[in-house]
Amino acid sequence: MSVKENVKGLEYTLPYNQYVDPQVFEEERKKIFLKSWVLAGHVSQIEKNGDFFTFDIAGESLIISRDKDGKINAFYNVCPHRGAKVEHSEQGNKKIFMCSYHGWTFHLDGKLNKAPNFHTTDLGEHSCMTPVKLEVYQSMIFINLDQDALPFKECYKELTANLDKYTFLHSLKKMRVSQRMIDANWKAVVDNYLECDHCPIAHPAFSKTFDLKNYNIDLHENYSCQYSSLTNGDSEEQAQFYWVWPNMMISIYPGSGNMTTSQILPIAPDKSLAVYSYYFQNEEISEEEEELIKFVDQVREEDFDLVEMLQKGFRTQAFKRGVYSPTEHALHHFHQQVKEAMK
Ligand code: FES
Ligand SMILES: [Fe+2]
Repeated sequence: MSVKENVKGLEYTLPYNQYVDPQVFEEERKKIFLKSWVLAGHVSQIEKNGDFFTFDIAGESLIISRDKDGKINAFYNVCPHRGAKVEHSEQGNKKIFMCSYHGWTFHLDGKLNKAPNFHTTDLGEHSCMTPVKLEVYQSMIFINLDQDALPFKECYKELTANLDKYTFLHSLKKMRVSQRMIDANWKAVVDNYLECDHCPIAHPAFSKTFDLKNYNIDLHENYSCQYSSLTNGDSEEQAQFYWVWPNMMISIYPGSGNMTTSQILPIAPDKSLAVYSYYFQNEEISEEEEELIKFVDQVREEDFDLVEMLQKGFRTQAFKRGVYSPTEHALHHFHQQVKEAMK
């Protein structure tokens, strides 16, 4: 019996082969990312009729658009004629989408406008690009690739009840986006976010700014929340760090209305695309907000190195899985949810 098995009360993390195995990655794609609500974007990206953006998740390309009646739509970016990708730009404003293969054209809601050589647009299931479930919550656009998925507000009842206390959320605008390809499994990046045991060592500025002696972690259905007050501020003013199942984080800092979202998009077993978006209330980013962005970016930079270092360790023979410290219960909570989804 190993020493570890003798230690009472120790709980093991997910086995780390699940962070490198292509088969597990594919299974997660099907059981997690093709079934969960995922943040696709924000209404401030498509303010005018005809505005659209494309979004890739779990190997699927989607178009999110605002049609001529102002309605927001989501559909697969796939031509129903022969399967070609229709829209190749990341964002824009159009009256019509056109497939570059045989020239079929589509309205902004994904419905067929014209198919050359056909004398009708009534082509059954080929009459539109396949629609995707979409819900807007606090101006954030969520999609779900499972047609049978429960409504967003039902899946995230507790989360929405909690976030609704921020009266400014719906009026925020997405002001900046940055992306970073991380050489690590998506779960490793989430793991890193879900504990602050590493903060005193890895994040000196963060540790100075927040009162880590009073760092709290609450667990809820489909989300967890870490929160702490500023060391030299009002104890009422707390930063809140939400993790939302499966791959999204929302941070809200003290001060004028703000939010940052992070999405960890799985690309390969050892590759993830992290998309960071900053939302503020005004048309221009103030000096104070620039400072906040700088602060958040620095903490992230410090984490990238750690997570990429960890991913290398996942392949060693010497180590199969880790253990949770008593303050890593949000990590434990996340792993339980992964296990549940993968059953
Ligand atoms: S594949 Fe799109 S028009 Fe033929
Ligand atoms: Fe960190």
